[in-house]
Amino acid sequence: MEFDFENRITDPEIIADEMLESENPLRPKSMNEYIGQEKVKENLAVFIQAAKMREESLDHVLLYGPPGLGKTTLAGIIANEMNVNLRITSGPAIEKPGDLAALLTNMSEGDVLFIDEIHRLSRNVEEILYPSMEDFAIDIVTGKGQMAASYHLPLQHFTLVGATTRAGQLTAPLRDRFGVVLRLELYTPEELSRIVKRSAGILGIDIDNDGAFIIASRSRGTPRIANRMLKRVRDFAEVINHGKIDGNTANIALSRLEVDELGLDNNDRRMLEAIIKFYKGGPVGVETLAAAIGEEAVTIEDVYEPYLMQIGFLNRTPRGRCITAAACEHLGYPYPIE
Ligand code: ADE
Repeated sequence: MEFDFENRITDPEIIADEMLESENPLRPKSMNEYIGQEKVKENLAVFIQAAKMREESLDHVLLYGPPGLGKTTLAGIIANEMNVNLRITSGPAIEKPGDLAALLTNMSEGDVLFIDEIHRLSRNVEEILYPSMEDFAIDIVTGKGQMAASYHLPLQHFTLVGATTRAGQLTAPLRDRFGVVLRLELYTPEELSRIVKRSAGILGIDIDNDGAFIIASRSRGTPRIANRMLKRVRDFAEVINHGKIDGNTANIALSRLEVDELGLDNNDRRMLEAIIKFYKGGPVGVETLAAAIGEEAVTIEDVYEPYLMQIGFLNRTPRGRCITAAACEHLGYPYPIE
């Protein structure tokens, strides 16, 4: 079977359809429906309740962590629980200060503005974001020289929910303006299994515990991947098992999709094998490794590494990336590497 690398099932990046509310009935809408991230949920529930009791807007919230863990979903839940509107945009989409000004002046009291990939905001946009967040006002200068005029525009109180894969990529002044900073963690297979069963229920898919657990344990701790895998495994189940997903069907489907028992795909294996074959297991710098496998360093850092580190296959050291004995054993190489 030909494998489409541009559309890898294990890619945690959002695909347009998955963003749309109408296209994604799987997105939980309330805190009660949201599975996992217990610490984040507990704290957020307190902040939301307190803000509502004081009849204030919620303080600005920064969500960070690997892609696909539910940052957009949480922004939606925050807006729902606060009974306000949600506006969704992203760092690269806001090109000019005027774009941000247009967004902000159209918001109603208490509304939530979600900015995904907030670390990719341009400097001059970031600069008008500071006073917006702090004083709920923007100062805009129009014209040049003698024709220059400055306007002071007061804004409604709003809540900025920013999302980024790494809080370290944010400038310090921006990071400091978030009252609430929450880190999302990879999900456990048990949590993912509950998510898979919930999604199967919504989509009317017949799945047993074994089937759900196999999908869960191969989804690299990421609900977005689990839900995508569930849909692909259903396709196999319909063709080979009258639509029922059991352990056997899940195993067959995932091996056809070239996802192994730990959820590694060809790209993960290719990267780990490059470290073994070209650099004797490391240490190797991330830029060097990126060039060797033709990927971008940020993709390696944000997409591949979190899960490989979580399962103990890779270590980040000051001198570079190192493979572990467990990774070598899984891939069938001796360790230490001669
Ligand atoms: N679907 C995607 N993420 C989810 C989560 N955390 N809880 C429930 N359903 C989900």
